[in-house]
This record gives sequence, C-alpha cells and structure tokens, in this order.
Amino acid sequence: MKNLKIYIIVIIILAAAGLIFILSYTSENSFLNPVGVSFENINDTGNEVAAEINNTKTSELNSSGKISMQDNIKLTGPKVTGNTPVEEAINKRRSVRDFLKKPLSLEDVSQLLWSAQGITDKQRERRTAPSAGALYPLEIYIAAGNISGLEQGIYKYKPLANELIKIAEGDCRKELSKYSAQPAAIQTAPLTIVFSAVYGRTSVKYGSRAERYVHIETGHASQNVCLQVISLGLSTVTIGAFQDEQVKKTMQMQENEEPLYIMPVGYGK
Ligand SMILES: Cc1cc2nc3c(=O)[nH]c(=O)nc-3n(C[C@H](O)[C@H](O)[C@H](O)COP(=O)(O)O)c2cc1C
Repeated sequence: MKNLKIYIIVIIILAAAGLIFILSYTSENSFLNPVGVSFENINDTGNEVAAEINNTKTSELNSSGKISMQDNIKLTGPKVTGNTPVEEAINKRRSVRDFLKKPLSLEDVSQLLWSAQGITDKQRERRTAPSAGALYPLEIYIAAGNISGLEQGIYKYKPLANELIKIAEGDCRKELSKYSAQPAAIQTAPLTIVFSAVYGRTSVKYGSRAERYVHIETGHASQNVCLQVISLGLSTVTIGAFQDEQVKKTMQMQENEEPLYIMPVGYGK
C-alpha cells in the first residue's frame, strides 16, 4: 500500500514537470496564438516579413508614378528627452476640436510621427509602440495644411528612413473633412494624422486574432501621439467616426491598407 502511494506521487510529479516543460516551450502566448507559432520565433521572422512588405510597397509606389525619390522629405530628431513628466501629460490630455490658425513646425511634426511609429532600436528595427510579433501592420499618413517648411499635401511616414514621402500636392483638409466626424477640427488643424493598417502583415502569423492585435496597436500608437501632443504644448482629438472608403481614397492609401483612426493636431483654441 505504501509503495503504491509513492508510485502515484512520482507519477503526479512527473506529469506536472512534463506539463510545465510543454507550457514554457510553447511560450507565454501559445494559448492565444491560433497558428501555434511562438512569439520568440515571430520576433525574428517578423521583421523580415515587415521589411519585405515595406520594400515591395515602396517599389509599387514608384512604378505607379505617384511618387518619385525627389519627393522624400527628411524629418528631424527625434528628441528623446523632454520637460513634461509622463504623469503630467496623462493628466493634461483632453480632446480638443478647435484649433488656432498657427502653423506647426516640421520639427514638431517629426516628433509626433516618431512618437506614433518611430524607431527606438535601429539594430532590431523596433518602434515606439508595441507590435504583436514585431510585424508592424500600421502605416501613417498626414494631411499637411499649415506646416512651416512643408508644402501642403498628403505624405506617408517612413519610420526607418525617418522621412516623409509625398503622395499628393495641395490642401486636402476640406476633402478629408467631408467624410469624417468633426469636419471643423480637420479643416482648421494644421496637421491631421491618419492611421491605417495592413491586416495581412499580422494575420500571416496570428490568423483570426490579427484584427484584435492591429486595433490594440492602433491604440498604443495613437496614445503615444496624445501624450506627445501635450508635451509639445499642442492639442488633438482622436476620431473614429468616418467613411472608410472615402478616407482611404482621399489619402490615396494602397489597396491593402484600411484607415483606422484620424487625429487632427494643432494649437488648441
Ligand atoms: C475609439 C474612439 C473613437 C472616437 N471617435 C471620436 C469621433 O469620431 N469624434 C469625436 O469628436 N471624438 C471622438 N473620440 C473622442 C471621445 O469623444 C473623447 O475621448 C471623449 O469624449 C472623452 O473626452 P476626453 O478625450 O477629453 O477625455 C473618440 C475616442 C475614441 C477612444
């Protein structure tokens, strides 16, 4: 009887050890990962996938004739220290929907874009906001309406190069405002940031959970902008109510990109 007890205890211990081994081997996210790929593996391959997609996109853009290399605008910075403690920025953040006609500096625009998706680890090409598997599905467009040193137009942010690529010339704020809630905010803000996402970059690894991950990431990136806005003495509102197809067309997004969030930025009234 005593031997049987010892035998059962040994079996329980071995089973528990086996379970712990399996769980740690398949990584912290194995239950949340429908395609069964560990986060660690994705981190390594993920960057390759993202880099591949980015390269393809650039060459597609070039061949479509919309973009030429001369239209690349070098951004400044980023500044990685400041005078506003994060608690102060969190406490001060408030939605503002009316802006002064005062221009934004290109330096401030650079800083805002960096806060959204800029590079914080050049070697590993990691960005300011967390990204599932480091696959980076987000793309950032701006409608430049009143920025010193930057012609009015639509631009796309290229985080690795810290550049803007010109997509179209002219003031598109009025057009964009027609398809969105808070048209007055978009018309008066010197800058409007539009977040879009390529869901496929994330779904290739995470299957049906990709949609959730992409939306969470948009929240991370846009919150960074909300706090950076305060640190620069500016204001913004996050807009989720807009006509997807019309916004996509106005901002001249690629077919595989979907607009997710709009943030007019400027000096609040
Ligand atoms: C997902 C999301 C979508 C939003 N969409 C809009 C919008 O379409 N128009 C708008 O004026 N504000 C929008 N807001 C801003 C909210 O109205 C605002 O955050 C809320 O009233 C709280 O005010 P506060 O941001 O000043 O704290 C949105 C906020 C979130 C989080």
